[in-house]
Amino acid sequence: MAPGSRLQGKTAIVTGGASGFGRGIATKFAEEGARVIIADLSEEAGREAAKELSCNFVRADVTKREDWERLLQEATSASGQLDIVVNNAGAAYTNAATHEVTEKDFDLVMNVNVKSLYLSTSVLLPYFIDNKLPGSFVQIASTAGVRPRPRLAWYNASKAAVINATKTMAVEYAPQKIRFNSVSPVVGDTAMTHLFIGKPNTPENRKVFESVIPLGRGSTPADVANACCYLASDEAAFITGVNLEVDGGRCV
Ligand SMILES: NC(=O)c1ccc[n+]([C@@H]2O[C@H](COP(=O)([O-])OP(=O)(O)OC[C@H]3O[C@@H](n4cnc5c(N)ncnc54)[C@H](O)[C@@H]3O)[C@@H](O)[C@H]2O)c1
Repeated sequence: MAPGSRLQGKTAIVTGGASGFGRGIATKFAEEGARVIIADLSEEAGREAAKELSCNFVRADVTKREDWERLLQEATSASGQLDIVVNNAGAAYTNAATHEVTEKDFDLVMNVNVKSLYLSTSVLLPYFIDNKLPGSFVQIASTAGVRPRPRLAWYNASKAAVINATKTMAVEYAPQKIRFNSVSPVVGDTAMTHLFIGKPNTPENRKVFESVIPLGRGSTPADVANACCYLASDEAAFITGVNLEVDGGRCV
């Protein structure tokens, strides 16, 4: 397949596409020919990203069923078909002793990181099944779901749930040719990084996290986007149920 056309003719929803890894994914998908719909809570950043990438923006909260219904409508009204869903939007809390984590923070990570997958599949799977379409879901999990660090228990557990649910659905919906994979970045340099390190996101403070990564640096939006593009594309037609660690060897 010619470079620049891996996702030609496909329509993709990218949640959390206004910032960080999601913006990198939206950029790569647009470069590879996809019609991209950025779905994000942040109206200003979402509109700005959509303008720069010449794609669509829908203000959506991934924890709300009606917003997923609007996204499906938006995706299918113009092109008539939805092909790819990237569940990237995520939330974290400032790292803290597990017994001190507030119920509000617990609910936040479970709602944004896990309930979003429940809602996306509850709303979108009937569409793929009824129309006999081979959809591809790519979920952004984390090395936190495989190799947990202390003081992030409920964030880690939410990402383990993402990986487990993704594998379950991969097997369950294989007969319908609907694929489910996840991508697990290691620490990056995005708007939420300071929460993981519990300090301002400076190169100095990131060093503690990066020093345990064999390849010696964190995940970039381009690293994550390249993995998502491959898994979403027809090149990965025989790949389902995989959790691809994009982590410079951290989870080995
Ligand atoms: N940054 C890291 O070190 C790191 C490491 C591993 C995994 N991840 C995961 O990567 C994904 C992307 O995070 P990021 O690091 O790019 O962070 P980010 O803060 O730069 O981007 C997150 C985006 O999600 C959006 N968002 C948050 N809640 C939402 C909601 N309810 N509905 C719709 N949009 C919402 C935000 O507005 C923002 O644009 C997350 O799932 C995160 O858990 C991040």
